[in-house]
Formats: sequence, C-alpha cells, structure tokens
Amino acid sequence: MMIAPSLLAADFANLERDVRAMDAGGADILHVDVMDGHFVPPITFGPGIVTALKRVTSLPLDVHLMVTNPDHQVEQFAAAGAAWISVHAEVSPHLHRTLNRIKQHGCRAGVVLNPATPLEFAFEAAGDADFVLLMSVNPGYGGQSFIPSFLPRCERLRTWLDTNGLSHVEIEVDGGIKIDNARDAVNAGASILVSGSGMVHGDIAANIKAMREAVGL
Ligand code: DX5
Ligand code: ZN
Repeated sequence: MMIAPSLLAADFANLERDVRAMDAGGADILHVDVMDGHFVPPITFGPGIVTALKRVTSLPLDVHLMVTNPDHQVEQFAAAGAAWISVHAEVSPHLHRTLNRIKQHGCRAGVVLNPATPLEFAFEAAGDADFVLLMSVNPGYGGQSFIPSFLPRCERLRTWLDTNGLSHVEIEVDGGIKIDNARDAVNAGASILVSGSGMVHGDIAANIKAMREAVGL
C-alpha cells in the first residue's frame, strides 16, 4: 500500500517546503498532475518542474498525464526523471505501444480511466500496465467530492485483474480521498492512494501520518 500526496494542493510558492513535509510525513511517492488546458481546462506542471523536484526529493515521482496527446509527453517526462507515468485510455488509441514505451524508459506504466469510462477500456492493455489509475472524480480539479460508485467499480476491477492472472497490477485511486474514506477505497481493492486537499494543507507531515494510520500502515 502506498500514500501519494498530490502536489496540486501544495503551495506553489513554497513547493520545496511542502515536498520536504511530504517526505517527513512518510509519503511513498509524490503525485504530479500534468494538465494541458485541453484534455482538462487547467494548465499545471511541465517537465521542468519534475527536473526541479528531483533536486529536493528522492521520492518516486508519479506523473499523471491529463493531456490530449500523451504520446508527445512520455519521453520528456521520463527524461525529466518521472518514475511512474500514467496515460488516460480515453486519449490513447495505441495503449499497448504507449505503455510499453513508458516501460522502455524505465518507468512504471499506468492506464487511467475517468469515472464514466467503461472498465473494459483497460482490460485488453492491463497486462502491459503496472497499475490502473481509477479516477474517483472527473479530472481537472482538486477538492472535488469522491464519487461513491467508485467503490463497486474498484471491486469489479480488482476481481477481474485477480481472475485474469493480473493480481500484480495495482489499483491507484485519485480524487476526493480523505482520512475518513481512505479505508473504504482500500477495502474495495485500491493499494495506491492519491490525496490532495485531504492531506496537503496545514501540517502536511501530520496529515500524512494520520492517513497512514487510517489505512493501517
Ligand atoms: C484531479 C487530479 C487529482 C487531484 C486530487 O484531476 O488528478 O490528483 O490532485 O485532488 P483531491 O485529493 O483534492 O481530490
Ligand atoms: Zn491525479
């Protein structure tokens, strides 16, 4: 099980300070939301930020590409130092190729599904993925409410992976995860928990510790 604070909720004027607090609190990986102003309206981080982050933390950087042309970005983010890269199935017509390209760069590869995208969109390529990122909100913004239908959906995916020889493929949950609902996501089969507004505010290190305790870490 891994706790992944989302940098989207950090204070961008004090990114180094917040990243050090995430480290101190026991984060396992750092979630980096890359938005292109096209797949989703906001524009966030580019590869330059990933390069800069590498100077202040040794935690693996989990780059979630919310972009219309992920194939154009994989190489740049891998070269910048991303450890994990995930791409949305909705905009990846050549998923096998894209996932394998991510792995050829030495990164863990993930396929992402929006809340209304059928799970089947991930099935054919799941064998080429290290993880499936199931969105529990519609992407683009932090601070949204967790969509409850995520839970049965996550259970169905976990069962499908386990019964198809893919029990090593992990499920990452992203959106609306707080200290009081994280356990539900874990019980449904998620093992990588992204949390922005639920953890990255006030005493970040203390919040991460509380999250770890909430899920029995
Ligand atoms: C939303 C992003 C999330 C976001 C989560 O599009 O993919 O990673 O940072 O933020 P919270 O935890 O506040 O919902
Ligand atoms: Zn994300």
